[in-house]
Amino acid sequence: MKIKIAPSILSAKKEILQKEVEEIEQYADLMHIDIMDGRFVPPITFQPKEIKKLKTRLLKDVHLMVERPSEFIDRFIDAGAGIITIHEECKEDISKTLDYIRSKGIKTAISINPPTKLDKIKPYLNKVDMVLVMSVNPGYAGQKFMPEVLPKIKELRRLKPKLNIEIDGGITTDTIKQAVDAGANVIVAGSAIFGKKDRKKSIEELKRAIKN
Ligand code: DX5
Ligand code: ZN
Repeated sequence: MKIKIAPSILSAKKEILQKEVEEIEQYADLMHIDIMDGRFVPPITFQPKEIKKLKTRLLKDVHLMVERPSEFIDRFIDAGAGIITIHEECKEDISKTLDYIRSKGIKTAISINPPTKLDKIKPYLNKVDMVLVMSVNPGYAGQKFMPEVLPKIKELRRLKPKLNIEIDGGITTDTIKQAVDAGANVIVAGSAIFGKKDRKKSIEELKRAIKN
């Protein structure tokens, strides 16, 4: 499967977000947008209007780390979301929420935190375009990669050879290869891209690290 790079703008400079996005646009495949509600995880991040303002040719990959997705979905569809990820651990009906997103013509994804077993999402695999496997506990950029989640990716890849599997958290030139070898094909990276001065080079280095 083609490997896609999804820079996470959580690590970009908020004051110059449009410029930050333009810098990576040519080299990336999706734009990963972390939305937090201050309840599912302590921080609060972007507002829909900030995301709506962002002009990009990249697919807006909206990762909802929120307790109640229904309070966010419509506003992020209006902000241009191309795919919306909800968490298995949220407080709403997963099946109904995925159906709702699909009914709006938007791609769907489901995410699981590191402690959550793969079995929990097996009933929804026919309702999603992608599964996001968290490789850190959600909430913050720059955390250490948790290799113990890799067996979940391996099993999922075995079950669903063509499914998009996204990995999020702690991806660097040291960890990306393990993620891809396990079966992930959509790779989120925040600090490994926006934490570096030369973003083009940082994306090239990540891609090169897969081949080594
Ligand atoms: C973490 C977020 C990630 C974060 C990744 O809760 O979901 O998308 O931006 O940042 P890095 O790549 O620095 O771990
Ligand atoms: Zn994320």
